[in-house]
Amino acid sequence: MRTPDLFRVDLRRATAAGAPGLTVTGDDLTARQAALQAASARLSAREAAGEVGFFRLDRTGWGLDRAVDQGRRLATHASTLLVLGIGGSALGARAVEAALGPGQNGRRLEVLDTVDPARVLPLLHSLDPSDAAIALISKSGGTLETTALWRVLQPWLAAGVGDGWRDRVVVVTDPARGALKEMADVEGLPVLPVPDDVGGRFSVLTAVGVLPAAFLGLDVDGLLAGAAAAAHSARTDALEDNPAFALAAVHDAWYAAGARVSVLCAYSCRLRVFGDWFAQLLGESLGKLRADGSSVGWTPFAAEGPVDQHSQLQLWQEGPRDKLVMLLSIEDGGPDVPLGVPAGAAGEPGGWLAGQSLGSLLEAERLGTLAALALGGRPVVQIKAARLDAATLGALIMTFQAAVAYAGDLLGVDPFDQPGVEGGKRFACGLLGRPGYDADGDAVRDFLES
Ligand code: PA5
Repeated sequence: MRTPDLFRVDLRRATAAGAPGLTVTGDDLTARQAALQAASARLSAREAAGEVGFFRLDRTGWGLDRAVDQGRRLATHASTLLVLGIGGSALGARAVEAALGPGQNGRRLEVLDTVDPARVLPLLHSLDPSDAAIALISKSGGTLETTALWRVLQPWLAAGVGDGWRDRVVVVTDPARGALKEMADVEGLPVLPVPDDVGGRFSVLTAVGVLPAAFLGLDVDGLLAGAAAAAHSARTDALEDNPAFALAAVHDAWYAAGARVSVLCAYSCRLRVFGDWFAQLLGESLGKLRADGSSVGWTPFAAEGPVDQHSQLQLWQEGPRDKLVMLLSIEDGGPDVPLGVPAGAAGEPGGWLAGQSLGSLLEAERLGTLAALALGGRPVVQIKAARLDAATLGALIMTFQAAVAYAGDLLGVDPFDQPGVEGGKRFACGLLGRPGYDADGDAVRDFLES
């Protein structure tokens, strides 16, 4: 399997000359190749030091076969899997389900990544616990929302199925420590690992995403094979052979030229949620303070064509020249719907659409958007997948992860930490009276009273 057979990144329209001072040329992109090679070498060094592991796809060490077995086992007990997790412990499963689901086995996911009672209550009222299973997912094992949801969902499940609730729960967490691991050991629940060197938003190809995918009966082998092909491409030295380098280079060049908003517009409703996954990956990985105290980062925007052509395109087309637009599309989108307009119906409403289909309209709208933006001097990256299958999705996931890792290196930040998120978590725990968070509670109360 080769990445170019799965998807291609086309930068021909990404070197647009914008307003004076906002110009990026092909040379600006190729000039970044050496810096990207250096970034790749630094990433390899961090891999060797055990700090960064998302490239590794270690099927055995990551317990992926066990995750597949557990997912399939849960699917024999229940038709709905409730994923309790948030951020990187939720968005990957959502993206995989939206892109590849529903599977052939009639199973479905409900991802609970909010504590909003307005989401939780109707779900509990509509679901039969005897037909539900739970994947409790948290790398740290201590995330407030996930912990709270477990306190609500465990009694709900136990009330519905009695002691058998333990057969319907799998925990995905740090294999060595944390409150979830301790609880799982006490209750005798199966635990699947989130590898130490794979951060939450880089973890969809671990048990975090594989367990829900297996529950849905999706093609996990294909997902991992596509990701492995993309991991290989992401380590090659030449910009033109390395889609992750290409995406990192175009972001870095346009960042230097003043762009700050990265739009991922999917011309496939099945890839719309992939945009949400990407938004977290880009936003949380690169939005940082540099060592010198300066702030950097891209504001991600997940969009869908043609939906957002009628909502956001005006802004992209004529608004501030601070955007890089990526159009993500699928050449063979599967079964099409002919409009059924006969030839010779030109006088009728829409009669000029003779011979067209919904699929041909979608592609025409993508090309129209591309032309409108590029002719207006707005940079557009085209990402074209041959088809949307598990291998393509795995390759896209791996490529975007690598691209964000490289882009972070070029920007001068560590893409793998999230100190700002941690601060917010600490303040919330302090307000709620969690032991050990007294100082955080005092600090936030002082702030609120000031
Ligand atoms: O990317 C990250 O690290 C975060 O978004 C986490 O995934 C999120 O905060 C949830 O953390 P945890 O998996 O520890 O519950």
